[in-house]
Formats: sequence, C-alpha cells, structure tokens
Amino acid sequence: MIALAADGTTSEIHRFEDAASGLEAVIVIDSTALGPAAGGCRFWTYDTPELMLADGVRLAAGMTYKNAVAGLPLGGGKAVLRRPVGPFDRGRLFEAFGRAVESLGGRYITAEDVGTGVDDMISVSRVTRHVAGLPAVRDRPGGDPSPWTALGVYRSMATAVEIGLGQTLSECRVAIQGLGHVGSALARMLHEAGAKLVVADIDPARVETIVAETGAHAVGVDDILGVESDILAPCALGGVLNPATISRLRSRVICGAANNQLATPDDGERLADAGILYAPDYVVNAGGIINVAAEHLGWAIERVSSLVDTMGSRLAKVLEISESRNLSPQRAADELARTIIARRGPSML
Ligand code: NAI
Repeated sequence: MIALAADGTTSEIHRFEDAASGLEAVIVIDSTALGPAAGGCRFWTYDTPELMLADGVRLAAGMTYKNAVAGLPLGGGKAVLRRPVGPFDRGRLFEAFGRAVESLGGRYITAEDVGTGVDDMISVSRVTRHVAGLPAVRDRPGGDPSPWTALGVYRSMATAVEIGLGQTLSECRVAIQGLGHVGSALARMLHEAGAKLVVADIDPARVETIVAETGAHAVGVDDILGVESDILAPCALGGVLNPATISRLRSRVICGAANNQLATPDDGERLADAGILYAPDYVVNAGGIINVAAEHLGWAIERVSSLVDTMGSRLAKVLEISESRNLSPQRAADELARTIIARRGPSML
C-alpha cells in the first residue's frame, strides 16, 4: 500500500512480526520534514491487518499536523500493534516492539497511546532509547501528560471565548463530557477561574467527586451534548460531532481534549453553518505531546510551560486563517500545519 503523507510525500510503512512474542506491528512514518516522526503506540484488537494498517496511516498523518501546529521539531508517526489472540507475555511483546523501534535508528519515537501504559514503555526502553512517556525523573518533563493536556485546553478555551464571544472564562457556563484524567483536571481549573460547570460521565464516582469539589451540576450522559452552555468540552470520545449531534447542540463554542471529535471534515462546516465556533481538537489538546517531546528532547520543564502557554495564540492564528480564507477552523488548522511543514518550521507563528 502507498499512502499519501500529510507533508505531500508518501508515508513509510514498516511491518514487523515476531512469532516468539506474538508481535504483529506496523510503524508508519508519515513525515520527518520537521524532525523524527513522533507518535504513540496503539495496542488494539484489529479484525484484519488491513484495518490495522489503515488506522496507523490515519493516526500518523494526524500526528504530523498536531506536532507541526504545536511548534515541535518533530514529524509525525504512529505504531499500531495487533493484540494477540490467546495468552501472551506482555513484557516480551513490548521488548520485541522496542527492537522494531530501534531498527529504525531514531527516525520514529514512540510513547503511550490507547491500550498502552508506562509499564509497556519501560519494557520498550530496555532495548531502545527512542521512547518517551517514561516516569518523570526529579523535576524533568515526563510522567502523566494529562495535566499538560488539560492546561493547553484551558488556555485555548480562554482564547476561543475571548475571540468568539468577547467574554472571559469567569463569565462562562461550560459543559464537560468525560471526567477522566483530562476532564477532571480541566473542571478544577475552570472552577478556580469562576466558571459554572455542567458535567457528565458514565462513571458515577467521577461525577460525584467533581460535583463535590466544584459545585458542578450533573446531567446524564445522553443529555450533556444538548445542554445550553457557552462552551462544550468533549473530553471522552471521538466522533461526537456528527449531523445527529450537531442539530442538538446548544453551545456557542466547542473546545475539548478528545481526539477526532469531528466524525468527518464536513462536520466542521456544519458547525460553522450553525454559528458554533469549533476549536480544532489537535490544536488544543497538544499539551500532552509537548510534555512527551520535551522528555525525549531533554528540554527543561519551563520550556513545556512556555510552549503550552502559547497554545492560545496558535488557536488565534488558526481562527484568523479560518476567517480570512473562509475555511472551517479544522481545514484552517490543516492548512497552517502544511504551511509550517513547507517552511520547515513554526517561525511564522
Ligand atoms: P480517560 O480515559 O482518563 O477519561 C475518559 C473519561 O470519559 C472517563 O472518565 C470515561 O468514563 C468517560 N466517558 C467514556 N464514555 C463516555 C460517555 N459516553 N459520556 C461521558 N463520559 C464518558 O481519558 P483522558 O486521558 O482523560 O482523555 C480524554 C480524551 O482526550 C480522549 O479522547 C483522549 O484520546 C484525548 N486526549 C488525551 C490526552 C492526554 O494527555 N490524556 C492527550 C490528547 C488527547
């Protein structure tokens, strides 16, 4: 299969199999125009090798755009691993994956994604140094990236409501779907800023905790998308913005952490037509990858803070392009990413 990469070249597809450990993996290097291809490792039950490959290609291209707009000196890549049927030795499997990463000589850097965790990356790190998402050492970047993701969403939200509504967060009612690592941290920051919260999660214990801490109003998971609010923050699932849900929305701004919120790019236009300002997911949820990149590149924590603090101005740039070129914000973000890649750097921001 030849896949067109986000930078206009073709992506590299590397397949790996190791019968002894049960490893079946594809590493997709979408772009190295800005630096080594970075993106997490997904461990998932794929019905066919074709579905696994298609997922890897799509996710790697997304990382190229996300890393470029985040201002990182990194390209985009992704690893997808097929979960073996039957019992397997997890440590051995991830060591075999580490050898696959090592064989690419640093052109691909891995980290956690759906289905993988810190322990897996520790296994990977036994055989390669091209891995991030390891436990933080002293005051260096590393460890759980979600507080950084939440902070980046928070900063972006402040910009979105200022540009879109002429308001500050203290004047806003924010509906949060999903109170996991990111959603709960975001709820605490918004409460601290004086925002009013409406929340939902399929886990009642998480709802209870946030209601007790912030005085949030809890609603059912089927109701959260239709709640009247200034801002809707999807922090649970992808694909939540589709023709059926968009027709029910009663929010003026959408800004949240979930990946792939738009079911299709056309849903970006649907939101614009409905007069809803959509802050593209990969522009606003990059705080975590900034922390992961800093860990790998040996940056100080202060550099993570200052890059996350500029996320609002990156979103402002995207919205400016959206306005001036009459593009949906999602398409404007893709356009910005392609421009950064073509110029080999984010100096234009
Ligand atoms: P998480 O797994 O800790 O939290 C997700 C929460 O959503 C859970 O509390 C879960 O019970 C809830 N949930 C699931 N289905 C729901 C539904 N139908 N309605 C309401 N709540 C529901 O995940 P995390 O780390 O907080 O990530 C949230 C989203 O942000 C995910 O889409 C993730 O891919 C994305 N993201 C996370 C980053 C990070 O640093 N953790 C970085 C970039 C994106």
